Amino acid sequence: MDKHTSGNKATEMGVINALFLLSLTFSNGQISSNIGICYGQLGNNLLSPYQSIEFINSMKAGRVKIYDANPEVLKLLAGTGLHVSIMVPNNEISNIASNQTLANQWVRNNVVPHYPQTMIRFLLVGNEVLSYSSDQDRENWFNLVPAMRRIRASLKSLNIRNIKVGTPLAMDVLQSSFPPSNGMFRSDVSERVMVPLLHFLNVTKSFFFLDVYPYFPWSADPNHISLDYALSRGTRFTYTDPGSGLRYTNLLDQMLDSVIFAMTKLGTPMSSFR
Ligand SMILES: *[C@@H]1O[C@H](CO)[C@@H](O)[C@H](O)[C@H]1NC(C)=O
Ligand SMILES: *[C@@H]1O[C@H](CO)[C@@H](O)[C@H](O)[C@H]1NC(C)=O
Repeated sequence: MDKHTSGNKATEMGVINALFLLSLTFSNGQISSNIGICYGQLGNNLLSPYQSIEFINSMKAGRVKIYDANPEVLKLLAGTGLHVSIMVPNNEISNIASNQTLANQWVRNNVVPHYPQTMIRFLLVGNEVLSYSSDQDRENWFNLVPAMRRIRASLKSLNIRNIKVGTPLAMDVLQSSFPPSNGMFRSDVSERVMVPLLHFLNVTKSFFFLDVYPYFPWSADPNHISLDYALSRGTRFTYTDPGSGLRYTNLLDQMLDSVIFAMTKLGTPMSSFR
């Protein structure tokens, strides 16, 4: 979803593709086609895939992200006009990173049968991979970009040119996020993962996917963060970053900017992402 707000670096640059998790149960109205729906299937008493996609369509959303490449869902999305993000599961990343044949198989099995009737536009490799930290998970951190390169090579070899390869990260990729001008990536991933990742995204003209939940910082400190500020509701409360002089009217912009500042510190000018 593109947030249109003013006076802030993140939105001027328009580069962060943040899909917000909207609960299907309380979103009844029609919403703009800029909105993307994250369609997860973990839960009880869910609507059937057919009903879910009818519902997403009736909301006039423009995009949907699924957390796998469920063939039933992808088939139902054919011809809907929805732009679709699909995902390689975290546990397949290390094999794909080390073997081009496996990358090719993944694309052949999960993309080719549905493309182009289903408008797959993003192929996300893993979900918040840098947020898991067992010994095995850490190995995965360093397999992430190699796996993305292989998936991209597979798409290219099949002459599929309008599917961008990305990977969604969470805010915990930052070591510091406050004030936003202090934004910095974690030292355990900064050089070894973020530098090659940002390079890959730039060279392939892809997008930086970020899962941003203002709810989390608010709920950790509800006495110090105004609820209106967290909900982007009203401008009574503002925060001015002493480092940059930028004034924020909501927590979402503040969080996005902390990531932009972290990127800038790695010498990745964001204009190159457009
Ligand atoms: C890559 O995976 C394929 C398919 O499973 C397998 O046949 C091949 O031996 C693997 N190559 C390497 C180098 O492990
Ligand atoms: C991004 O890519 C462009 C070419 O498309 C290049 O000129 C620029 O230096 C790159 N920036 C970074 C930070 O890699």
